[in-house]
Order: sequence, then structure tokens, then C-alpha cells
Amino acid sequence: MTSNTPRLLFFAGSARAASHSKRLAKLGERIADANGIAATFADLGDYPMPLYDGDLEERDGPPDTARKFEALMRVHTGIFIASPEYNASITPLLKNTLDWISRIRTDDGQKTDVFKTRVFALGSTSPGGMGGLRALNAVRPVLELGLGALVLPDQFAVPRAHEAYDDHGHLRNKDSQESFKSLIQKLARAAHVLHG
Ligand SMILES: Cc1cc2nc3c(=O)[nH]c(=O)nc-3n(C[C@H](O)[C@H](O)[C@H](O)COP(=O)(O)O)c2cc1C
Repeated sequence: MTSNTPRLLFFAGSARAASHSKRLAKLGERIADANGIAATFADLGDYPMPLYDGDLEERDGPPDTARKFEALMRVHTGIFIASPEYNASITPLLKNTLDWISRIRTDDGQKTDVFKTRVFALGSTSPGGMGGLRALNAVRPVLELGLGALVLPDQFAVPRAHEAYDDHGHLRNKDSQESFKSLIQKLARAAHVLHG
């Protein structure tokens, strides 16, 4: 693999064992892999972080788990986030993760550039009929306005998550499966343009 081969990271804004969002992120990894795109799935449950607190930060700095996750992001050029919807918004887990990572400083005191130098794509899923789409209206400005990230305008939602998958773990709705594949391919191309 050359240094400018796109590498995609897939993760979800839920750490729940039976999370629909993790299932979507894992499907994304499988689709990427099946289409010759290097991909990794990461579980935020493996990167536990305390709730952000300025006093905690002053005392200890960002947790090691935030540094590890930032390092993982750094070895990928495109990042897909599958977000659940909590009360029409972002989950505390996802916001807390992004907040801690945004506080990481380089050795010379500069803010991490990990958000500004990757391309992001968003998807949501929920047992409800809207597929958690309203969460993305909250996730997008956090990334774009708050963190200066480039986020693809295309986004993807899987409604009725509990009945959306066939026995092979693919989306029953073939149009949805194709849309997800197209989004992943677009993310890989955009990552390549930015890093190629
Ligand atoms: C606090 C809370 C708020 C929720 N609010 C919404 C909501 O606004 N819209 C929605 O479609 N689902 C809502 N849900 C249901 C979640 O979409 C559902 O629990 C989903 O499975 C969570 O994502 P996960 O499966 O990836 O953990 C909410 C769930 C919780 C726990």
C-alpha cells in the first residue's frame, strides 16, 4: 500500500453491545473491504473517556484513550461516523469523544489538526422511521463549524434499524445498500484527492 492510498475509519457514536450504529459502521467497513478500500472499524467502548471537565484537563490533560483515538484517526484519511439520535441530537458519547480529542495539543503547543486534515462522511440509524437523520443536523456543525472538518454533503440514514438487515448482514433495501456503497466510494475518492 502506498502512503496516499485511502484508508477509511468507521466508528459509531454508541458503545452499546447491540448498537445499531455499530452494526452500520461495521457494514461500512465490510463494504469498503469488499471494494478494495483499506478500512478499519473501531469501537468507542474500547476508548473510555471521562466526561470532559476543564479542571480534570488542567490536572491531567486529555486522557490516553483520547490520544490513542486521535492517533488512530491520524492513520486514516477518511472517517465515517454512524450516529444514533438522542432527542433529535448528537449522543453524549460522540460529543465527549470529539471534545476531548479537540483539546489535544502537539508537542509545540498547537491544536491537533486531525479534524482539518481528514474527510468525513456521516450516517445515522435508529429503530424509528426517520433513521436518526435529525442527529446529523447536530453532528455536522460540530465537525464543520466547531472543528473545521471537511464533511461530505451526502449523508445516509437507515430507518427501522431492527428489521433493516438480511441474514448476511446486508441492508434488505438494495437501493440503501447501493447508496451506502456509493457514499463509501465517494469518501475514499475525496480522501485520495485531499491526500494523494
Ligand atoms: C436518550 C435517548 C434519546 C433518544 N432519542 C431518539 C430520537 O430523538 N430519535 C430517534 O429516532 N431515536 C431516539 N432514541 C432511540 C435510539 O435511536 C435507539 O435507542 C438506538 O438504538 C440507539 O442507537 P444504538 O442502537 O446505536 O445504541 C433515543 C434513545 C435514547 C436512549
